Amino acid sequence: MRLIIQDTYAQAASWIAQYVAHRINVHTKEKPFVLGLPTGSSPLGIYKELICLYREGKVSFNNVVTFNMDEYIGLHSSHPQSYHTFMHDNFFSSIDIRPENINIPNGLAEDVSEECLRYEEQIAKYGGIDLFLGGVGEDGHIAFNEPGSSFQSVTRVKTLTQPTVNANARFFDDKPGLVPKKAITVGVATIMQASEVVIMVNGHRKARALQQAVEGAVSHMWPITVLQMHPKGIIVCDEEAVSELRVGTYKYFKDIERVVN
Ligand code: GLP
Repeated sequence: MRLIIQDTYAQAASWIAQYVAHRINVHTKEKPFVLGLPTGSSPLGIYKELICLYREGKVSFNNVVTFNMDEYIGLHSSHPQSYHTFMHDNFFSSIDIRPENINIPNGLAEDVSEECLRYEEQIAKYGGIDLFLGGVGEDGHIAFNEPGSSFQSVTRVKTLTQPTVNANARFFDDKPGLVPKKAITVGVATIMQASEVVIMVNGHRKARALQQAVEGAVSHMWPITVLQMHPKGIIVCDEEAVSELRVGTYKYFKDIERVVN
């Protein structure tokens, strides 16, 4: 696993955006590049930077297919806090992606189990995900795979834990009661099957999750630790997030990246 430590969140976001753009650009044009995408505050800077790269003509999303990680159950796609709205407002409306290439789970599907199966089949139809971009929750959850999620899990319905509901209440007028209690989420295995996984970890409140991700033992109680098992996993973090790492760990990854670059 690579750990890229950047001074600031803006630099971390820029690093990831350039990495993603590079991956899209070197990809063969015959087959679309399949990109897994997250929501939340962590990717906002990445989306801003990718939009800038698109406007500067440095990347195009014309041959990119996207799969979002998750969606709340019970929110209409036009609801201001649905992940459909988030992705449209913060990314898709500002780039040249083809609408038919956007995939987000349907949280209003009549048969949600069927919707989960369909989502996995759709990913498989494109030959799997080339690069899954993600964030992490304070408790180490990835997508909505809360602590205790099976590492073999695929797209399914998950009940959100109270800490996640509380953390996400900031998008619902600080009212936890308004946060949906269930979501459709890709599974841990869905993420692990991607050819590459890049996770943004920023800010003090993610310091413990980062420490577990890098120094902790692989455990379903910290789903992010599964990244240690991925052949091409990258965590990009800012200085604020490293406060729980041992000094030796911090120096080790800084040194390695100095040699890589
Ligand atoms: C939600 C999302 C995750 C995201 C996490 C952290 O639970 N389902 O995909 O990584 O929140 O969000 P933030 O980046 O806002 O801290």
